Amino acid sequence: MKNLKTKYLGFELESPLIVGSCGLCNTIENLKEMERSGAGAIVLKSLFEEQIIEERVKSATQGIYTSFHPEALEYISQMSMNFGPEYYIKLIKDAKNELKIPVIASVNCISKEYWIEFAKKIEKAGADAVELNISHIVHDVETSANDITDDYLSTFRAVKDNIKIPVAVKMGSNYTNIARMVKLIQNYGAKGVVLFNRFYQTDIDTDKLELVPGYIRSSRKDLTETIRWVSIVSSKTDIDIAAGRGVKDGIDAIKLILAGAEAVQVVSALYKNGIGYISKMNREIESWMEEKEFRSIEEFKGKLSQKNIENPQAWERQQYIKALVGIE
Ligand SMILES: Cc1cc2nc3c(=O)[nH]c(=O)nc-3n(C[C@H](O)[C@H](O)[C@H](O)COP(=O)(O)O)c2cc1C
Repeated sequence: MKNLKTKYLGFELESPLIVGSCGLCNTIENLKEMERSGAGAIVLKSLFEEQIIEERVKSATQGIYTSFHPEALEYISQMSMNFGPEYYIKLIKDAKNELKIPVIASVNCISKEYWIEFAKKIEKAGADAVELNISHIVHDVETSANDITDDYLSTFRAVKDNIKIPVAVKMGSNYTNIARMVKLIQNYGAKGVVLFNRFYQTDIDTDKLELVPGYIRSSRKDLTETIRWVSIVSSKTDIDIAAGRGVKDGIDAIKLILAGAEAVQVVSALYKNGIGYISKMNREIESWMEEKEFRSIEEFKGKLSQKNIENPQAWERQQYIKALVGIE
């Protein structure tokens, strides 16, 4: 058995594999199975602002709603019937009682008041850390890149200033300058960054002539963009990186560690192969380390990060031109 220990958000993890935020993390039975299978940590499913509002409205109106759009309400209601804030707090408490691995809570809000309020509750319930899924998709043409950055940072700051547990930010990959954004988040006190979130996709049903949700799970081709940015960000910042999006096996996880990640998040591969697949991925990492004679994650972490490649920009440009003009 190889030493797969790594450090993330100040915790020593037994494995770099973290189960990313998703519905599989909604029950204590699944969480226990994740720990048994060798997950280094788990991120609970995000609690969305809409769920908090729904619970509040329900208690204020004793379940009789009059002034809400019925479809929106039905949707939110179904969402929080199984998974409102109360359930969430209980899940954190149960997870902390039952598990030894770090339990990271996740929040996805829009208004600052809810971010702060809920982060405080999460801390009180005993979560080891919190991941902020700040995923505004901006629709108007007036908002500038600077406005978005300011909003992002002030949201982060508002939460950070109100709790003591480590805060990580889960980012999307569509920023003008990802490395700068991460550096700013680090300067504001974030302990970790999750690269990357996979946003809700939009598709069209041509029979019904309707907009429909796109495919929710990732594919392996999502991985290469993460590799690039982990390699860049790990060279330019000191923040802990949990990398993910498109990880399908242990070898993919190794690639992200070579690029400089402290830990690797995995979700879609567990939906496809079951929770027990974590143990197979750990074994794949171990046998690769055996073959390459690495004794610890630390020995190969960041070996292929940008700072360890001579003139990375020229290298990328060269590969790009090669691919376009078809020179082998
Ligand atoms: C069914 C499903 C539910 C998810 N729910 C959440 C969520 O509540 N919060 C969140 O931050 N990410 C959520 N995600 C995104 C994952 O945490 C992860 O970032 C994304 O799937 C990319 O990782 P992967 O390639 O391993 O799937 C969800 C993903 C899936 C497939």
